[in-house]
Amino acid sequence: MAETIPDLRNVPKARAYGELKGHSDAILEGVDDNVAAMATIATLVHHAFGHLWTGFYRVVVPGKLLRVGPYQGSLGCLDIAFGRGVCGTAAAEKRTVIVPDVEKFPGHITCDARSRSEIVVPVLDRQGDLIAVFDVDSERVDAFRAEDQQGLERLVSWFAATKQ
Ligand code: SME
Repeated sequence: MAETIPDLRNVPKARAYGELKGHSDAILEGVDDNVAAMATIATLVHHAFGHLWTGFYRVVVPGKLLRVGPYQGSLGCLDIAFGRGVCGTAAAEKRTVIVPDVEKFPGHITCDARSRSEIVVPVLDRQGDLIAVFDVDSERVDAFRAEDQQGLERLVSWFAATKQ
């Protein structure tokens, strides 16, 4: 496959995410493998926007433990308990969490000291059960807004639309 990842850093967010969803759907057509989809979505988002860290934490013990999955960027922490940090909060509450300044989020887990802001989106399967969270970190303060939430939630809606 000779798919090139577009540089969308200077493209309005709604259009950028629309373009990424198109790429992602085209690449994943006929695919029913969550790991392949996680790797593809993480790579597309990471390189299109030039983020610091972009990837998935999978639910390995429901209600209790997340473990790192496919990602791009610097080394990620391996395990995160539900309720801990931004990822664990998003998982426990099954909702998107946007942190404009990580230094102001009590309990933020530092995997890379350069991280300044973060968004974590829950990933649900067809039954509505939480299977992972999608975490994106930026070196810039306040990098994520409602349009990122919408765009990322739409990208991970792939997992609820497949048969697995
Ligand atoms: N900062 C996250 C931990 C994961 S890493 O940033 C890759 C958190 O507080 O949950």
